[in-house]
Amino acid sequence: MLQYHSMSRFCPIEASSVHLYPPRVMPPPKPLNLPQSFIKFLRNPLLTIPESVYHEPLAALRGPPAIVWVTDPALVKIVLVDHCDDFPQDPLLRRVLGGLFGNGILTSEGQDWRWQHQIVAPLFRHGEIVRYAPAMVAGAESAIKAWSAAPPGSTHAIDADMLRATYHVISNIFLPGGGALIGETMKRGTADYVEGISWSTAYAVLSLPVWLPRPGRRRMRYWETRLRAVVADMIHAHHTSPDDRNDLLTLLLGAVDAETSQTMPEERLVDNVLTFLLAGHHTIAMTLTWTLYLLSRAPEWEARVLEEIRQVVPSGPVTGEHIDKLVTVQQVLKESMRLYPPLPVMTRYSAKDAELASEHIRAGTLVGLPIYVIHRHRKLWDDPDRFDPSRFAPEREASYSRYQFMPFGAGPRICIGAAFALIEATAMLATLVRAARFESTPVQEPMPVWRVVLLPKDGMPLQVTIRDRVGR
Ligand code: HEM
Repeated sequence: MLQYHSMSRFCPIEASSVHLYPPRVMPPPKPLNLPQSFIKFLRNPLLTIPESVYHEPLAALRGPPAIVWVTDPALVKIVLVDHCDDFPQDPLLRRVLGGLFGNGILTSEGQDWRWQHQIVAPLFRHGEIVRYAPAMVAGAESAIKAWSAAPPGSTHAIDADMLRATYHVISNIFLPGGGALIGETMKRGTADYVEGISWSTAYAVLSLPVWLPRPGRRRMRYWETRLRAVVADMIHAHHTSPDDRNDLLTLLLGAVDAETSQTMPEERLVDNVLTFLLAGHHTIAMTLTWTLYLLSRAPEWEARVLEEIRQVVPSGPVTGEHIDKLVTVQQVLKESMRLYPPLPVMTRYSAKDAELASEHIRAGTLVGLPIYVIHRHRKLWDDPDRFDPSRFAPEREASYSRYQFMPFGAGPRICIGAAFALIEATAMLATLVRAARFESTPVQEPMPVWRVVLLPKDGMPLQVTIRDRVGR
């Protein structure tokens, strides 16, 4: 059993360090009743997680909806690793995202999942990923080029810019021909989709019938159909003029099930292409967005990061060989993913009656693993809401439980793109910070809101100034 650290120190915030306490979700002091829960859930599902979850190892809320929040690293390990077969993925995920991702690797279970996992795993080996560094740097450079055309200090929507830049990366690596039409369709559908997903998730959590009308449903379906059709067209085009590239699509097209000798049906190809494109760029885009924001508030850390980048990469592009040497850059990224984990909650359900920390959990109960809360748990972290990348200095990082910092999840369903994401975020952040300075606009603080990924509620406007030759 993990020994909890002593209670965090709630030191009074000195005026000079206020900038190190970025915006956070304010939890309700007590569990909410159903109507309150429903309203808050639509605004931001993180607002429904009560204060007690930030203090306790496990909190069983009777509901409705009944949910067991698990935050103690030892209990997290039981759910995600030791007894993962007793806590499979919750059908909620499939109900909410199944229209888009079908039965792809993220939304499938059992043998179906295993087969798909085996097929794509080779593409994510370290040696493979490092090859992609130039494409990752090119993504960052595309944003820098756009900023360079504007006057110094102009305000830019950094969240939108990072989405564009990371889509540039993932589509160039994974698709033949870059996937511009798919990207355009995704961009046009995003607002409708994000709106609809709040309702569909609320309905799924409350187990309301699928047929019950809900706002935004028709628009969601429209974009799902549209996007799947564009991807299917691209697959057809690739079938008729295949090349010898080693991209994801080529790999998936050639995959054969060892048991049945069947290749992947077209529907499943579409499922997976969409899964990788979306999971592989929204998450990294939000990591970079929150990190640039945090650095804009912490000039002392910006200076340290810049100094390291200049030492490790004095000239020329960041390459695969630089990544491991960019130690401070990675510390900052990890601290950013601790405070703003791109996927803030994972869900499982109890397949049979179970016992966790003396709490009886009935079969069928929803089990929540709130990464956002675990990363700010009052009994696991010292001064949990403070931005302090020195927490991830190698010697300190080694003292944490594996299940107390887990932006990529854990166990067999751990993010297949974790190494890819860290390398991409490091290469892109180093390229961006070396080229430009970011300042927060005084207008309003960006509140984190959970819409599958953790978004800044009203976007992330930052002022961008391209550095001069001296690098100021
Ligand atoms: C900062 C970036 C990222 C974060 C924080 C992140 C986070 C996660 C988490 C927490 C899970 C586990 C979900 C669960 O167990 O319920 C997951 C799964 C997954 N991620 Fe990521 N991810 C990131 C980037 C990527 C990238 C770059 C790709 C692909 C290129 C990717 C593809 C996937 C896939 C396919 C799964 C499902 C794996 C499975 O079920 O076997 N992710 N991710």
